[in-house]
Amino acid sequence: MALAIQAPAKLNRFLAVLGRRADGFHELELVTTVLEGVADLTDSLEGEPAPELTLAITGPMGEGLVADESNLVIKAWRLLEEAAQRPLPATLRLEKRIPHGAGLGGGSSDAAAALRLGNQLFALGLQEGELLRMAGRLGSDVPLFLLGGTVLGLGRGERVFPLRPVPLEPLLLAHPGLHVSTPSVYRALQDVGYPFPEALASQPGGTAPPWRNDLTGAALWVCPPLAEVRDALRDTGGEPLLCGSGSCWAARYDTVQARDAAAGRISGERPDWGLWRV
Ligand code: C5P
Repeated sequence: MALAIQAPAKLNRFLAVLGRRADGFHELELVTTVLEGVADLTDSLEGEPAPELTLAITGPMGEGLVADESNLVIKAWRLLEEAAQRPLPATLRLEKRIPHGAGLGGGSSDAAAALRLGNQLFALGLQEGELLRMAGRLGSDVPLFLLGGTVLGLGRGERVFPLRPVPLEPLLLAHPGLHVSTPSVYRALQDVGYPFPEALASQPGGTAPPWRNDLTGAALWVCPPLAEVRDALRDTGGEPLLCGSGSCWAARYDTVQARDAAAGRISGERPDWGLWRV
């Protein structure tokens, strides 16, 4: 019988770079919200046992993605096979709605969904801790999707702790259709200079949830046209925040009306951009 797992996008509402580590990764402090229930920003991974392992990719954002061993869904499946010590042949279908290279964690979310799907489909009985360890091997952003909700991430982002939910402001996400490579943004931190390391605990108090991304300068250095999206959101009264290493931006607004007016204006001016209301 076929089983389907939803794979939502994420928003890092706080991303502090604390420094570069000896292993080349960066020590981070992150607060991430998994954007559950946003249908047009959620991938879906469906599967059923079959004579051999295959992956088909469809959906509005599926173009250009490869379904080979480099795909995080297949990499996750191989880790499950390693844990189960047997092949887990299945027909997998991935419906992509989250844009790729946008900083919304689509590939990582798909990988987390694959771990859950395989575990359930083949009744592997892998416990949460084991799945989290496997997720950390797949990528820094994969474990947070296993938790869902609002998550504190430490280390390279893979050490995750559930937080009290942070209510989402009216948000508008804008994607210019550009792909930004995450490693190139981290590398560029050295060129633009590391931000002054300031952890979450030293943030000003008050009720407004944090809204900060230390990768912004490096991402703009790697991909200058990103500034156009930031400025368009700012011009409509929003407070823009780069999503992860880009290229998507999220802007928060005081009211739903202000957000909707902004969406109307930007969609008229830039019909080529992807826009999502959250
Ligand atoms: O862990 P993941 O494979 O998603 O990381 C992709 C790339 O992003 C890494 O190869 C590294 O260049 C960079 N990265 C980093 N520090 C982190 C997370 C990612 O330098 N904490």
